[in-house]
Amino acid sequence: MHVAIIAAFAGIGALALAAAGAHSVHAQAESAQVRHGAQLYAQHCALCHGANGEGGAAFKTPIFGPGHQLSKFKTALGLFEYNQMLMPFDNPARISDQDKLAVVAFQLHRSGLLPPGAVIEMAGTAAIPIPGK
Ligand code: HEC
Repeated sequence: MHVAIIAAFAGIGALALAAAGAHSVHAQAESAQVRHGAQLYAQHCALCHGANGEGGAAFKTPIFGPGHQLSKFKTALGLFEYNQMLMPFDNPARISDQDKLAVVAFQLHRSGLLPPGAVIEMAGTAAIPIPGK
């Protein structure tokens, strides 16, 4: 009886470990570029667009994740060019084009539009579509 109970607990422990393992695999599935983009986003964009892109006082439409309207930009290039010209809204020159590319990768990743571990390059952005919902 006791043995059976211990075995049951051991089983739960193994499940918990497996879940933890799956989680860390998921974290690694973010490329270094996406992680860099996440940091930049938190530093330069979240103030106006919310910690999770959900929208803020200045602009209420989500800019990634559920309810975003990025499909109007058609491709990752369109989104990049918008960010390049206009964002951060208070001073678009505050971050470099390379950093804006990382933010685009982050936006795509959070919107389910970038495969795990994927890295984007400027030259390839026109070939990455942003489909409507
Ligand atoms: C000072 C506030 C502010 C900051 C900081 C800011 N934005 Fe914005 N953002 C806005 C406003 C306001 C708009 C709407 C502009 C308009 O409609 O003309 C906007 C619009 C956008 C849009 C268009 C969304 C859509 O659906 O039309 C994107 C994409 C975007 N911002 C990305 C970013 C990114 C990426 C950063 C950081 C690099 C950033 N923004 C930083 C205020 C800000």
